[in-house]
Parts: sequence; C-alpha cells; structure tokens
Amino acid sequence: MTEIRVEHGDIQAVAADTCVVNLFEGVKRPGGGTGAVDRALGGAISDAIAAGDITGKWGELRVIYTLGRIPARRVLVAGLGKSREFTLDRVRDLAANVARELRRLGGPPQADATTIVHGAGIAQLPTEGCAEAIAEGTLLGLYRFTAHRKPKNDEHQLAVLTIVERDAAKLDGVRRGVERGRVIAEAQNFARDLANEPANVLTPTELARRAGEACQAVGVAFEAYDRGWMETKLMGSLLGVAAGSHQPPVVIVIEYRGDPDSPRVTGLVGKGITFDTGGISIKPAENMQEMKGDMAGGGAVIATLVALGRLKPRINVIGIVPATENMPGGAATRPGDVLRAMDGTTIEVINTDAEGRLILADGLCYARERGCSPILDVATLTGAVSVALGDLAFGLMSNHEGTLEAVRGAAEAAGERCWPLPMWSEYAEQLKSEVADLKNTGGRRAAAITAAHFLKHFAGDTPWVHLDIAGVDTYDRESGITVKGASGIPVRTLIEFLTR
Ligand code: BES
Ligand code: MN
Ligand code: ZN
Repeated sequence: MTEIRVEHGDIQAVAADTCVVNLFEGVKRPGGGTGAVDRALGGAISDAIAAGDITGKWGELRVIYTLGRIPARRVLVAGLGKSREFTLDRVRDLAANVARELRRLGGPPQADATTIVHGAGIAQLPTEGCAEAIAEGTLLGLYRFTAHRKPKNDEHQLAVLTIVERDAAKLDGVRRGVERGRVIAEAQNFARDLANEPANVLTPTELARRAGEACQAVGVAFEAYDRGWMETKLMGSLLGVAAGSHQPPVVIVIEYRGDPDSPRVTGLVGKGITFDTGGISIKPAENMQEMKGDMAGGGAVIATLVALGRLKPRINVIGIVPATENMPGGAATRPGDVLRAMDGTTIEVINTDAEGRLILADGLCYARERGCSPILDVATLTGAVSVALGDLAFGLMSNHEGTLEAVRGAAEAAGERCWPLPMWSEYAEQLKSEVADLKNTGGRRAAAITAAHFLKHFAGDTPWVHLDIAGVDTYDRESGITVKGASGIPVRTLIEFLTR
C-alpha cells in the first residue's frame, strides 16, 4: 500500500527517485514548482517545450533525467491540458495516470516520488480539494486485485508519494485533503476487493465476516442476522431467493451513530447477491462469471459505513445488506411461485433472474421498520440500465425530487456520473399480476424503470432513491481512476451525499 506524505519545502530540493511537476498546454515558460525545477535544471523543461517534445497536452507524461543537478533522479512532467478544461476530476485522473507511470518506471522494486499539488497553482482550484483528489487518484489508480495470483516479474510498487508544498499557509489544507482522500479511496478499494472476490470465497457468510471485521476496526455497530431471524421477520421474498442455494443467507445491518441526540437516520440498502446464476430461469454461460460481482451494491454500502466510522460526521446512517446466492437448487423458487414480502405484499415470480428486487423488497421494508428516511438503495439491478446509459453513468430513479437532486449534486461533486430515468406511473401497469399483488418482472420494455417501480412499492411514502449500477460496476479497461475489474462505484457519491 502506497504511503502518501505531506512535506513543507521546495520540490527541487527534496530527494526522491522521481519528482512530478506539471504543465498546461501552450505554456512556454513554466512557473510555480515546475518553474523552480526548470531553473534548477538549467532550463531543461523550457528547452524540451521549445523543441516541441513537451506540449502539456492532457494525458502527456514525459521523463527528463536530471544528471545530479537536483537530488531527484528523474523529473516526470505531466500534461494538464487546456487550462479552461481543468477540473478536480482531471486532478484525480491525472494523479492516477501519474501513479501508474511512477510504478511502471520502477527501477528498484520499491520506488518513491515527490509531487507538487496539481491544480492549486495557476489553475486556482481549492488546495484542499486538489490534495484530496491527488490522494484519491493515486490510491484508486494503483489498485490491483492480487489476492489469488503470484506477482508478475515486472510488477513494481510505488512505496511513497510525498506531496511537497512551498506555502506554509496551505499545509493544513493539504493534510486535511490527503486524509479525507485516503479514507474515501480506501473505502472504494475495499468495495472493489469485495466485488472482485470469486463467489466460492465471498459467500454471504464471508461477506458478513469481512464487513464485521472492518466495522469493528473503526468502531461501528455491526449485526449479521441468520435465516431464523428472517423467518421471524416474515422476509419471504428474500427467503424465496435463498431457497435455491446451499449457502445460508445473511442480513447485514451496520449502524453508524454520529448524532445520538437526533432521531433522524438515513438508510442505505445494498443488493448482496454473491452470485447470480439466474436461478431456475438460468442465465446463458457466456460471461456468467461476471455475476460474482452482483453484490457490488451491498459492498458499496458496507464500505461507505466503514468510511463513516473513520470520517465521523454528525449524522446517523443504517446500512442494510440482504445477502444470498441466486442458485437453481432443488428447493429453488420456480417461475409462477408466489412469495410474501415482509410487509405482506404478495409477489408472483415470473422470472427467478429478477432476484435483486426480491431481496431488496425485504431490505426496504426493514429499513422502513427501522425508521430510516431518506432511503437510498444501490444495486446491480438490470441489464437494461446499461443499454440505456452504457458504462458512463448509473441510473437514478426516485419517488422524491429533492432527494434525487441531492444525490445528483453529490455525484457531480464526487466525480461520478449518474442520470435520472422517468418514473411515470403508467410504467407500473406492467407489474400487474392476476394471481398476486405484483409480478416481479414487467417484460423487456423500460426494464430498468419497471424494476424501480417494483422497489418503489416497498419504499412507500418514504423519500427514496434507487441507484441502478449495473453497467458501471466493472470495467475491462484502464484509464485515470478506472482500473480493470470492479469499480467501487458509487462509494464516493454515497460518502459525499451523507457528509455534505
Ligand atoms: N444481476 C442482474 C443484472 C445485471 C446484468 C447486472 C448484467 C450486471 C450486468 C439481475 O439480477 C438480472 O438478472 N436482471 C435481469 C432482470 C430481468 C430478468 C427482468 C436483466 O436485467 O436481464
Ligand atoms: Mn438476476
Ligand atoms: Zn442479479
């Protein structure tokens, strides 16, 4: 794990394997830290700019060797792009790209580097936010899931990144930003770890064990309830999904109380399907392995509650994660079966592969029983949302405009993308059943929205927002803070929503 330090001083005077500076596109004579390094190198950076070898274009990374003129062995000049297009999101992505380049440059298996605070100079972004984005980007960009393989020969580590700030008045802000960024990135990486684990390792029981361990480490109250408890709670919808699996189901309940004098408590409900075969309505073999990540929503909820334990905001939050496999065992629920949810609603199961909404139904009922308001649920719920929005944004659906807008604002500030889908009541007609109160699927058309209407029934009159993260939960490419495998989205949005 890379350590991030903060130091007061002049970047050109600090020893390291590599010293990171930056350059906006079009700048001929760099100022600030980059200018100081340039002067110490006898104008080597300006010379490379004049030669056209360094342009400052967004994404450009150029190495200059210092030949002993400063204590650092090399200088990495990172292109910031056009100054009017520069944002905190770019600082985060830049830090991620830079961190991976520093790791690749390697040299000794353990490398160290110094950097200036990108964005806080002529870009005039808030220093604390820049420091936070650098810490987040560095730790998110360096993430690798290595639990089940040997290290490759050319895999180096970046041991230390030291942020060097010249202005003593800015140091406290840099330190605060780095601290918050570290907590947030570690939470997101924890959510990534959970979703990347194969389903034979991360059973519902193991998910609960890891959640409990992490909660204990930060002093947050944790409970894991078993099948017997679910039976006393009449959670027939969740139990109907669990019936096809030999793995016992668990309901994880995490309580963060940062404002004990207030009765207000926000509920986060996360889908915890540790593997989704589809059940009796079984999925095709192709890409079914991806369904090990069908607990990504639950993982994000757990990671968010753990982060709250470290950030300690003055709020109350309950995280609820119904966790089970969706398997086609001999006792499995069949299409046509009728289940009864905790609130008495009966559900005709048309397709056992629409299992996420079935477990969330009981999760939402329980959140209401606990007095949560508002309630956010997070789920890899429908393939349809990725047909609509691709892998750029998660879908938002809600029964309450104000809470929806608050989630949108939080996502924007946190650098995650989402977009609302309409919840016109006509869509709910597709869920009408002849034999029960609701069907669990509404057919192919508007499937992300009809799924949300199913959940809306269980949210009742509580302000509620549904985050459908299928589509953004895993990536097979690497750029900026995006790495291959689980994304850990929407941990940053949830933390921002709760702490702003
Ligand atoms: N877990 C899936 C949704 C999913 C699909 C997540 C692809 C990530 C990538 C969910 O349980 C599911 O199977 N949904 C079905 C619902 C349908 C049967 C109404 C879907 O979207 O096809
Ligand atoms: Mn499914
Ligand atoms: Zn699923």
